[in-house]
Amino acid sequence: MAEPQAAAARILFVGDVVGGLGRRTLLDCLPLLRERYAPTFVVVNAENIAGGVGITPKIADELLAKGIDAITLGNHTYRRKDIYPYLDSQPRIVRPANFLRSQPGHGTCVIERDGLRLGVVNLSGNLYLRAGRSAFTEVEVALGELDEVDHVLVDMHAEATSEKVAMGWHLDGRVTAVLGTHTHVPTADARVLPQGTAYITDVGMTGPRGGVIGVKREQAIESLLTQMPVRFETSEEDPWLMGALVSCSQRLRADSIEQVLMPRPPATAGPDGRPL
Ligand SMILES: [Fe+2]
Ligand SMILES: [Fe+2]
Repeated sequence: MAEPQAAAARILFVGDVVGGLGRRTLLDCLPLLRERYAPTFVVVNAENIAGGVGITPKIADELLAKGIDAITLGNHTYRRKDIYPYLDSQPRIVRPANFLRSQPGHGTCVIERDGLRLGVVNLSGNLYLRAGRSAFTEVEVALGELDEVDHVLVDMHAEATSEKVAMGWHLDGRVTAVLGTHTHVPTADARVLPQGTAYITDVGMTGPRGGVIGVKREQAIESLLTQMPVRFETSEEDPWLMGALVSCSQRLRADSIEQVLMPRPPATAGPDGRPL
C-alpha cells in the first residue's frame, strides 16, 4: 500500500450561528481563535444567522470578506428569498447536497489555501427534516464531485443522533471529518474513528446560551405550556461560540479533534454584562 501523503492542516468549524448576536460573537472570537489555533481553513454553518432563520447575500458577503472560507447551511436554507440566486452564483456557500437537484444552490465546494485543497460537503438528515433524497446515497455523488482534494469536511446537519453516528462510521477513512450540526447543543463524543475520520455528533451553536436553542426562553416555555402559537425572538443572553478544531498531518486523515467552546469576549459586553 502507498504511504499516505502529507497534508498538514487545521480545520476550524463553527456551529450554527444564530442571529446578529451570534454573528457578532463569531466575529469577536475569530481573532482569538486564529491566534490560538492558527487554522488553515475556517468553515461556518450559518443557517440561522439572519434574525434566527436563514441567511442573506449581504451577511454571506460579510462572512466571506472577514476570512470565512466556506459557509454551510441546513433546513433553514430557503427562509430568505433573496439568497436563492446567490446560492447558485457563489461557489463558497453550500446547502445540503441531498436536497432536490431542482432546488437552488449546490451541496459541495472546494476551497484552496496555503496550497491545500479542502472539499466541503453539506448533508441533511432525513429523519424529522425535509430533504428530498437520502443523505447516505447522495453523499457518494457529492464526494465524487470533489476534485483532487487534500481534505474533506462533511457537515451532517441532522436531528437524529443515530443518522449522524451512522454517517460517521459510513465515511470513516474516506473523509477527514464528519461534524454534526442542527441541534444547537454540543455533544461529548468528539473522537477520531479507527480509520482516521474526526467525528462529533453536534458541535453546538454560536449564539445565546441563555435561551432555548437560540430562542428567548420565556417564549419557548410559553409555547410549550400553552400549546398555542408564539412569535419567537432570538435570545440575547450569554453568547458563546461553539465549534470544533480538526488537526491533520496526512491527506484525508485527522490526527485529533477538540471541541471549541468560547464565551464572547467580555470587552464587548456593556457595563451591565449584557452584550452590546
Ligand atoms: Fe440551526
Ligand atoms: Fe437546522
